[in-house]
Amino acid sequence: MRGVNTFETFKAIIGRVADGARKPDAVLATGDLVQDETRQGYERFRDAMQELNVPVHCIPGNHDSPRIMAEILNKPPFQFCGSAIYENWCIIMLNTAVRWDDGGRLETNQLEILERALKAHPEHHTLIGMHHHPIPIGSQWLDELGLRNSDECLEIIDQHAQVKAVVWGHVHQSSDRDRNGVRMISTPSTGPQFLPDSDTFMMDTRPPGYRWLNLLPDGSIETELVWLS
Ligand SMILES: [Fe+2]
Repeated sequence: MRGVNTFETFKAIIGRVADGARKPDAVLATGDLVQDETRQGYERFRDAMQELNVPVHCIPGNHDSPRIMAEILNKPPFQFCGSAIYENWCIIMLNTAVRWDDGGRLETNQLEILERALKAHPEHHTLIGMHHHPIPIGSQWLDELGLRNSDECLEIIDQHAQVKAVVWGHVHQSSDRDRNGVRMISTPSTGPQFLPDSDTFMMDTRPPGYRWLNLLPDGSIETELVWLS
């Protein structure tokens, strides 16, 4: 992508996590994992990820093929969408991908999955993952490609106090905001980044990156960005 070999930068990040002192309990892969809609692309992602030997929660983005992804990335340690419990936290991963649209949408079945999971685990602090941003990021061109029915999603979130954070990819930049007591967090790409606050498409000079999320027992979240230097 734009002169960056995204498979190489992705593998470099996996290597860095694998070699680091701190081990993750799980990985949230927030979409746009493969762009060419091939089985081989997802098999390469799967094979590279297996090095970490932890659960990998996968959701599709606008560039993915949800059908192929669900076939290849839905056998442990991989999970395609849906929810998972880690101690007193519930992770809910939603599919916002829409065919032929770079913007996203939570179809009725995804809104139902969200609501059902929240009702099933009211005592669990909850983190929701999706590919598209449910609030404006501040760049006009990206905000035209966000979650198109974010109002429906936010209305459900507003009714469930256990939701502590929403995390997404798509925007190739870091952000961390508060909305009614819920952390709204975007994560940089493992490839190239987009320039924040730019109304038109502009690449950033920041390197590939990823984000640690430390989900604490009291419902708070510590988070840290790592840039590949
Ligand atoms: Fe995307």
